Amino acid sequence: MTLEAIKYENDTLEILDQLLLPGEHKYIPISSVEDGWKAIKLMQVRGAPAIAIVGCLSLAVELKKTLFSSKEELSKFIEEKLNYLVTSRPTAVNMGKAAKKFIQKSESLTTNSKFTLQDMLKRIVTAIEEMLPNDISVNKTLSKYGADHILQMFNDEPVDILTHCNTGSLATAGYGTALGVIRTLHERKKLLHVYCTETRPYNQGARLTAYEHVYEKMPATLICDSMVSTLMDRRGVSAVIVGADRVVVNGDTANKIGTYQLAIAAKHHDIPFYVACPTTTFDPHLETGKDIHIEERPHEEMTHFNGVSVAAPGINCWNPAFDVTPASLITGGIVTEFGVFKPSELAEKLVPIVMSLHL
Ligand code: MRU
Repeated sequence: MTLEAIKYENDTLEILDQLLLPGEHKYIPISSVEDGWKAIKLMQVRGAPAIAIVGCLSLAVELKKTLFSSKEELSKFIEEKLNYLVTSRPTAVNMGKAAKKFIQKSESLTTNSKFTLQDMLKRIVTAIEEMLPNDISVNKTLSKYGADHILQMFNDEPVDILTHCNTGSLATAGYGTALGVIRTLHERKKLLHVYCTETRPYNQGARLTAYEHVYEKMPATLICDSMVSTLMDRRGVSAVIVGADRVVVNGDTANKIGTYQLAIAAKHHDIPFYVACPTTTFDPHLETGKDIHIEERPHEEMTHFNGVSVAAPGINCWNPAFDVTPASLITGGIVTEFGVFKPSELAEKLVPIVMSLHL
């Protein structure tokens, strides 16, 4: 059985509370948009695709139990709720794009007299519900492309991989992105070993990626973020693969804080550096990473660990949750459900596809 971060059955939504992992495996109910917003903000659910799916499903749950008297009223409700969900966390683009897509869909259903209020409601809810299976299918496709690309580079010999943060079943609807590529390598018996970073300050690597590897019995070793260069120098890895929260037109990529320094170290050691993400993580409206809004999280997430202070009281802190890796450091490629692209190919080859599929 694979880990499931999001359970949606019989109109009921539950999420695995990721703040309790790895100590406790507990699902909590999400019964409204307010519950969804809070779970995203507090990081009980996290990871760019999972945030968008839980946000939108929280709306579906609420839509199913609310009575509307007109299509206009329903449309206004959808727009307000989605715009509110977007305010939960700013850096990952997936929630914002999903919101735009469903607002547009709801507006066009409102003005089209062919559809009744009930038709409109059903179509919106069904489109939201499709996000779960679609994400899993996209992840499996991109993982196959990523594994093929890496193995081709290493003449089909087994590889060692370094990854950062968490990009697996817990950060998506299932299977994962960067961790999906690693899972595929493992399924093909081509994975020698995975190294995962602790990922300070919130420890998604130590708590979640390590948990997924142990759970799935994949050969893995945990390292502190500060050990990356020494790992590359002393033990060596074949490739680095990470996920993304937003990839812009020139290929600059926002991902969990610490990704940028991994990419610099990889370049220095001549190790290919890959980003794996679905195209819902592409932002075709930003040209470069300079314009990406980087979320800053509460200082307590740095200074405290499970409520215990690990820093000198009174010290100043700066806690950006993400960084932007320049496209020039993404030397392996950007792995998507449409194949693996060099950052320089995105504008010509991928942006048109992204624009035609989603906003
Ligand atoms: O702050 P988080 O835990 O939501 O950040 C998650 C990441 O940065 C992931 O690497 C990214 O969202 C990719 S998830 C497939």
